[in-house]
Amino acid sequence: METAKSIGSYKTTLINNRRYLGNKYRLLPFISGVVERECRDIQVVADIFAGTGAVSSAFSDKRLITNDIMYSNYVCNFAWFGAQPYDPAKIAELVVYYNTVIVAEENYMTQNFAGTYFSRDDCAKIGFIRGDIERRFHQGELNHRERAILITSLLYAMDKIALTCGHYDAFRQGATSDQPLELRLPLAPQDNDPENQCFNEDANNLVKRITADLVYIDPPYNSRQYCDTYHLLENVARWEKPEVFGVARKMDRRRLKSRYCTREAVTAFESLVADIQARYILLSYNNMATKGNSRSNAKLTDEDILRILRTRGEVKIFSSVYKAFSAGQSDISDNAERLFLCICDEGEG
Ligand SMILES: C[S@@+](CC[C@H](N)C(=O)[O-])C[C@H]1O[C@@H](n2cnc3c(N)ncnc32)[C@H](O)[C@@H]1O
Repeated sequence: METAKSIGSYKTTLINNRRYLGNKYRLLPFISGVVERECRDIQVVADIFAGTGAVSSAFSDKRLITNDIMYSNYVCNFAWFGAQPYDPAKIAELVVYYNTVIVAEENYMTQNFAGTYFSRDDCAKIGFIRGDIERRFHQGELNHRERAILITSLLYAMDKIALTCGHYDAFRQGATSDQPLELRLPLAPQDNDPENQCFNEDANNLVKRITADLVYIDPPYNSRQYCDTYHLLENVARWEKPEVFGVARKMDRRRLKSRYCTREAVTAFESLVADIQARYILLSYNNMATKGNSRSNAKLTDEDILRILRTRGEVKIFSSVYKAFSAGQSDISDNAERLFLCICDEGEG
């Protein structure tokens, strides 16, 4: 790899350098501790509601299968865990170019988002960079992994300066950012397992086709849909330039809605668990079933979880106390994040 000096200066970034609801980065010692103590001979881990990919990063010495219904998460997961080799010098050169380029022209971002989550100038730059990544990819200058790493770099940079409180349900009216949009070089490993696979689909469909030693399940807990909260990152990652609506400038998200955020959560979880092919199923679910406001109420009760997991084998529960995310509406202090480990009966799945 060329040195920073020979290319120009840039900063680097790691997987946890973003905000994401339900991100398990802080819980990694707890999660990997349970797996180390309780599970034997784990070689393949499937993280089927992967979000940022934080949990997969704790198992980077294993073969990984990642999945998320959101394309923006799929792209980041492919950047961090993909098996395809990439050229770090090429990425660094483009990061330096994108950080110095001056863009005046209108584009999809200025036309639809100027003065909302970002200033007009930042929108001009975001739209230019995203378009340029796609153009270079289609011209064969970037491979799939290089494209994914650059999109990841852009999404992380956007997250740092967005005029939001971390999600895109609303922007801070009249606010301005004094921070420039600054892309960083994601330190994506070059030595990932060559058989790693990254998917972008409904976990309920995927589990019918994959086999793993351990399947980790971290579904949404409540009615807050991730496609609503992160619509803008999803829009930029996909770059299909859809029409957007309302004050929050959201696109049509019907195909991205999760059943785990609705009253169908129990049925969805039941068929998911029935279809999993693994020796261990590990579920993260917090204990907010009856706490907080109605929006943060959990969709699966402990009774549902235990009844369903026990159809597959013995279930053990582990608990770690941490302070939950709260939008300020709920009366929530300490919340236990729990892990439900199902040791699947042999011959099942
Ligand atoms: C609690 S978050 C996972 C957080 C993740 N463990 C992390 O550390 O970043 C839940 C994730 O599930 C995804 N999701 C929701 N419904 C899904 C489904 N039916 N299939 C696959 N992914 C889904 C959401 O997009 C979201 O990223």
